[in-house]
Amino acid sequence: MTKNNMVIKQDQVQIGNITVRLAKEYEVDANWMGNDISAHQLRASWLRLSQDDLPMNPRLVGKPGVGKTTLAVAVARELNYPVFLMQGTSDTRPDDLIITPVITEGKQISYVASPLVTAMIVGGVCILDEGNRMSEKSWASLASLLDHRRYVDSVIAGIRLHAHKEFRFVTTMNDDSSVYDLPEYIQSRLNPQIFLDFADIETEARIVRYAVPYVEENLLTLLVSFLSIAHKYDETYSVRDGIQIAKYAQRLRSLNKELTLPKALKTSVYSILGEEALKYFPADEQMQNDNNSSRPNLRPV
Ligand SMILES: Nc1ncnc2c1ncn2[C@@H]1O[C@H](COP(=O)(O)OP(=O)(O)OP(=O)(O)O)[C@@H](O)[C@H]1O
Ligand SMILES: [Mg+2]
Repeated sequence: MTKNNMVIKQDQVQIGNITVRLAKEYEVDANWMGNDISAHQLRASWLRLSQDDLPMNPRLVGKPGVGKTTLAVAVARELNYPVFLMQGTSDTRPDDLIITPVITEGKQISYVASPLVTAMIVGGVCILDEGNRMSEKSWASLASLLDHRRYVDSVIAGIRLHAHKEFRFVTTMNDDSSVYDLPEYIQSRLNPQIFLDFADIETEARIVRYAVPYVEENLLTLLVSFLSIAHKYDETYSVRDGIQIAKYAQRLRSLNKELTLPKALKTSVYSILGEEALKYFPADEQMQNDNNSSRPNLRPV
């Protein structure tokens, strides 16, 4: 029995006379590379420095594909927390964040805990991904969880749930303008902000090589040069785009051995990022030399 007077059995929990099915752990592999400062900041915000101290609820802020989710999962795993990932959208309702009812085959009502509530119960990390897409109404239902109270109320199940001592929370947010501006009382509960930026060129190369182990070294060199030139011109092409581009270019080459490496790369960039991205290619004379392993010119064309 815990503070909530609950009994946890495998994938479900008994709270009073209500049985709630728990969410599954997030199992996808995550390997954080580079920038140890952000990882350090995340570890620090989850610390408790005394018995009565409470962990903080950080938000990871950065452009799409810079590695926010990867960082959160990697640090949580390093600290041996079970990880529960919850996707925020503009349709996420307060109940979706807490407990939802489902009708069983026998026409009974049963209850399902969200990944967030599951993390609260078992003492894991909840990563609320893309939190900036969620409405104020949904965030409001978490206000009590994100301050000293550390509980949520489930209106549907009629119960109050207190977070496990080991429960940790982090939300990720894209800094684009297409999303809700969160009200001050929510923002003030989501601190510290941890800002993530594009990795440096060497780290981007390592990340692409890890995700696409079959990538040819010359293709990788051209690709990361392309990405770094684009970043200098404030394009938000991410390492995720880089991974897709490398995968597609290698596939094109694998089916057609005649296709030169720069051609495969250009086709891939065009297909994934669109025509305007082609202007950030390294100079053509450099591109023509497939076997030149030195770093290509970093000047836009
Ligand atoms: N520093 C990094 N270390 C390891 N992998 C990274 C890093 N940055 C990005 N990646 C890789 O890039 C891809 C995108 O990363 P991730 O999904 O974590 O980005 P994100 O910031 O959460 O994006 P979004 O805002 O779209 O959710 C993943 O495949 C991930 O493996
Ligand atoms: Mg993400």
